[in-house]
Amino acid sequence: MNSEKTPDALKGKADKKVFIKTYGCQMNVYDSDRMNDALTTDGYIPTDTPEDADLVILNTCHIREKAAEKVYSELGRIRKIKDSRANAGKKTMVSVAGCVAQAEGAEISKRAPVVDLVVGPQSYHRLPELLGKAAGGEKVVETEFDIQEKFKHLATPSKEAVRKRGVTAFLTVQEGCDKFCTFCVVPYTRGAEVSRSVDQIVGEAQRLAAAGVREVTLLGQNVNGWHGQGSDGREWGLGELLFKLAEVDGIDRLRYTTSHPRDMDDALIAAHRDLDILMPYLHLPVQSGSDAILKAMNRKHTRDDYFRLIDRIREVRSDIALSGDFIVGFPGETDKDFRDTMDLIEKVTYGSAFSFKYSPRPGTPGATLENQVDEDVKSERLAELQALLASQQAAFNHSLTGQKINVLFEKGGRQQGQLSGRSPWLQPVHVEAPSELYGEFAEVEILAATANSLQGKLIQN
Ligand code: 5AD
Ligand code: SF4
Repeated sequence: MNSEKTPDALKGKADKKVFIKTYGCQMNVYDSDRMNDALTTDGYIPTDTPEDADLVILNTCHIREKAAEKVYSELGRIRKIKDSRANAGKKTMVSVAGCVAQAEGAEISKRAPVVDLVVGPQSYHRLPELLGKAAGGEKVVETEFDIQEKFKHLATPSKEAVRKRGVTAFLTVQEGCDKFCTFCVVPYTRGAEVSRSVDQIVGEAQRLAAAGVREVTLLGQNVNGWHGQGSDGREWGLGELLFKLAEVDGIDRLRYTTSHPRDMDDALIAAHRDLDILMPYLHLPVQSGSDAILKAMNRKHTRDDYFRLIDRIREVRSDIALSGDFIVGFPGETDKDFRDTMDLIEKVTYGSAFSFKYSPRPGTPGATLENQVDEDVKSERLAELQALLASQQAAFNHSLTGQKINVLFEKGGRQQGQLSGRSPWLQPVHVEAPSELYGEFAEVEILAATANSLQGKLIQN
């Protein structure tokens, strides 16, 4: 950020710099932005280089083992930076936030003494106060669950904070999860499922729209499990909320992520049928195509339930692109179970998907199961599954060539004179376009597709 963009109120005061590195899911991306907001008010400006930073925050992910290990190796690098800054007479505060912070607490500063502050995801609004404490030399650990207090702070962002957002923005509607899939740490690191109220969410959407945001993605660990209090005192579901948000002036596209098949109710399917601004893209993880594994994972639905659900969604919105998450090598997964997953993927066909080798997480029921699958077998299965998913994704992208689609331009392109935007199905689209079209929608003819993006030309009218 250059000094011209520094809010007037902070000029002269903003002499501290913060570097935040974000790991994992979109909720962490949203949380990192909110940490930046809280710290802006405290006189910090963001920097992209840890060497310049007076404060380094790692916003961590605990979902798989590798994700957590990456944090410790990054802390090794940060220690060297802290030491060399100290030699130059500069102080550096180091904080670990996010789900590793929540799960490991004080263990982190024991294993990595470079860390001054460990802060869990529900306490970010207290960052300035906690940093003040840590600046006195005390090792601070804050991992309380206090989601209502966090929600209250989210509902009242400063004007400067809102102004910084681009044309697309995330909006957290719920946090936590009560589903307890047997592989997953989220119910432990993020706590119980708690929903924000309709008024809080609509209020934030209105503030985003007033700041120029045109596309909002509702976020939650189990977003379609959202059940917030409506302005009429009743409890609403996500479908009803989407209808309400569609009325907010200035918001032209809505998305939500990430969903559980069991929470796709009639109202939500009706929203896909009736709301043009609800984009035809749905991330609906199934994890496995085998009934035995789905049961062991505590998913509480069968593969047939999933097929029936997909049929109902496609019936009301035939152009919808499906996305999902898959885990291979859950304990007890046989070759036949894996074939069932491959068969499910063949039958459903995905526009994009994420897939992982099962990683035992301490404290989850899956980790103590005896029939763990060999790493080699997991690797083989993952490679085969990813090849299938990649071919489906490429086929989907190529099917759009020659079509005219609507694009929201959200940033500069890779090359001079280009802008980059998103299709309704979330693919990045690169187009030669004047910079005035930043933040605008335009019709684009798709000329070429790659595995991950589209290229097109503006349709002049
Ligand atoms: N091992 C592998 N993948 C996991 N996921 C969650 N927990 C694990 C685990 N222990 C995957 C799931 C989830 C996504 C966010 O991460 O597919 O949907
Ligand atoms: Fe984890 Fe999602 Fe299952 Fe919740 S629904 S336990 S977040 S995988």
